[in-house]
Amino acid sequence: MSETGKPISRIDGRMKVSGKATYSAENNFPNIAYAFPVRATIAKGRIVSIDDAVIQKEPGVIAVISYKNAFKLKPLDMQAQAKAGAAFLGENLPPLQDNVVHYPGQFIAVIVAETYEQARTAAYKLKIGYTSEKGAVDLKTELPNSEKPKMFMGEEAQVNDGKAAAPLAAASHKVEHTYSTPVEHHHPMEPHATVAVWEGTDKLTLYDATQGVGFTGSIAAYFLGLQKENVRVIAPFVGGGFGSKGLWLHTLLVAMAAKAVGRPVKLALTRQMMQTNVGHRASTIQRVALGTDAVGQLGVVRHHTGTYNNLTQFFEPSGKQSLVLYQAPQREVTYNVAHLDRSAPTFMRAPGETPGTFALESAMDEMAYQLKVDPIEFRIKNHTTKDPVKGHDFSSEFLLDCYRIGAEHFGWSSRSMEPRQKRHGKYLVGYGMATATYPGGRSAASVKVNMNAKGDVTVMTASIDIGTGTYTVLAQTAADALGVPVNRIDVKIGDSSFPPAPLAGGSQTTASIHPAALDACVLLRKELTALAIADPNSKLNGRNPDDIDHADGKLFVKGDNSKSDTYLNILSRAKRSEIEACATTLPISGAGLTIPSALCTPSQTPPEQNSDVKQYAFHSFGAQFAEVWVDEDFGTIRVKRFTSVQDVGRIMNEKTARSQVIGGVIFGIGAALMEATEYDKRWGNPVTRTLADYHVPVHLDVPPIDVHFIGKPDPHISPIGARGIGEIGITGVSAAIANAVFNATGKRLRDLPLTPEKFF
Ligand code: MOS
Repeated sequence: MSETGKPISRIDGRMKVSGKATYSAENNFPNIAYAFPVRATIAKGRIVSIDDAVIQKEPGVIAVISYKNAFKLKPLDMQAQAKAGAAFLGENLPPLQDNVVHYPGQFIAVIVAETYEQARTAAYKLKIGYTSEKGAVDLKTELPNSEKPKMFMGEEAQVNDGKAAAPLAAASHKVEHTYSTPVEHHHPMEPHATVAVWEGTDKLTLYDATQGVGFTGSIAAYFLGLQKENVRVIAPFVGGGFGSKGLWLHTLLVAMAAKAVGRPVKLALTRQMMQTNVGHRASTIQRVALGTDAVGQLGVVRHHTGTYNNLTQFFEPSGKQSLVLYQAPQREVTYNVAHLDRSAPTFMRAPGETPGTFALESAMDEMAYQLKVDPIEFRIKNHTTKDPVKGHDFSSEFLLDCYRIGAEHFGWSSRSMEPRQKRHGKYLVGYGMATATYPGGRSAASVKVNMNAKGDVTVMTASIDIGTGTYTVLAQTAADALGVPVNRIDVKIGDSSFPPAPLAGGSQTTASIHPAALDACVLLRKELTALAIADPNSKLNGRNPDDIDHADGKLFVKGDNSKSDTYLNILSRAKRSEIEACATTLPISGAGLTIPSALCTPSQTPPEQNSDVKQYAFHSFGAQFAEVWVDEDFGTIRVKRFTSVQDVGRIMNEKTARSQVIGGVIFGIGAALMEATEYDKRWGNPVTRTLADYHVPVHLDVPPIDVHFIGKPDPHISPIGARGIGEIGITGVSAAIANAVFNATGKRLRDLPLTPEKFF
């Protein structure tokens, strides 16, 4: 009777493709006004004058807001913010609070007008005077002046600094190379947008394109000086995020603007603004060294990353996978972080692993070639079943099966070790592979379940569907837990007034909210069971609750289907119009975790059913295989087919899971072959500003992608057994492609993206 796992199409799919799903920018209100931001045109400096005389006469202009007259926000205070759950303001720069310009494109004013066009026209006419300094705009130039940060997101950033030198010098075989990756932008299909509606002066509703309604609400409340309960954030549909939809400054700007003009205000970012104002993946220059003994046993891995940041503690953690993969006893993972006068970098799909697996998995291929060993054999020889640094067993790990299944489906055995052996007409054909990995995260979450007298079920949680399938898989879990068909289940998410759930980031949504959904359904069933048992008119009267099972909208005595009672009858005889239960689940041993809300009391889940981070290391693994065709005359690379095998625990929905991996692989093809944001070396402004020059894969760039899952539930992460799946699909992809290019041509390309000029 299991709905879980079935390839059910998205229950929200029809609404999305027929235009009935309301996205943030589509929320309209009587008397709504429109905001358009004004952006700095210098790299660094100060605003010395703002002349709005010209635009005050422009038709429709209602307000010109700048540092001179803007609402005073709470200042930055990391400790107070952390306490308020407001640590992750995308950019540590509460907007319009002073006249300092930190980077080109910074929001420095906002125009509010009767129409979008009027606001936009006026914004371009606002006259700003500056004093300007030269900004730091180039990573290579600035790296010599960089710092070695102590911490990254609460973990030690510099691991075993300097310890790899001796074992590397003693290694029988060594490879050491520099790999570099460019700035990339998320560019979700739906640009960021917010509609702000105030009720009086202390209650605010934000219709915001966000990956976390509770997350955004906490941060907005903090900076606007409001009670958290008084900021409601609504986002039932979000058109992709990939890490860019945290809280960025436009959301505060529009709240400030709406307060100033006393009307609802809408602000929608342009695609050009998305190249500057909502984060990006910073470029990296990575140095990877591997050392093996005479027979190819890895003894040492060293991974150093040079990158940059500004206005954030975040930096691209591209050494992450080098602390997780393979058996080498000695590993050194370090970072240098320079300062650039550029907008803040942020989390972008598999932050760290995306550029990091390019470097590590390319180096693994280089070592295998040097050793004259098949790259899969080399990885199998160095496989680990434990976290190689912390020593914990992986909670559930089938990486060797991923290699084997991938090799079979891909036809790896027909690959030749030596490059330049396969041709198709004028094309050189090559095969490459790489390992994929991403942490299996899980956070505290609360879910409420309601059943009405008609037997309709509503599942509520402040989670988000950023295109991943959250609506659908939640319905499947509730359907199984209650014995009710999927089509009787209404999932309500994307509203901070529902019980709290984590940000839809870090691939943790499924792993976090499903245990809570399951518990809430179990509590609901318990209550129905108690009602039936106590009712003399029920066939279950007087039974032991442990003898009762459920299916098809009813409870029955185990092994005796004739002794049953339907949910409808139980509720009707008890004169109940509805019944409701709410559960909070949290991974145990998660240091510092607090019960997220008074909305739900934590359920009495036996601790062994929760994930124990003290005992196990939670990671997902996979294997990526690429076939490329290279035209040596032009330096062009085509990915002809791709095989991806993923070990991500239980598969909740075969179809939405597959879509996640396909999306990840396409994202990886973009990173491997075309995506790069280029900056003007003089002024530091992006010169690739739209999707016309920031190239992403189009249909013709994407080959058939063959996806397989191991599908074995992780017994330790939760009673559901699912780890996340959003991010692992991109990891290893660019290395698999670059390794295939080497196999095709004998050329080792170490600087992404692999655009044609890199061949010559
Ligand atoms: Mo993901 S980069 O944590 O949205």
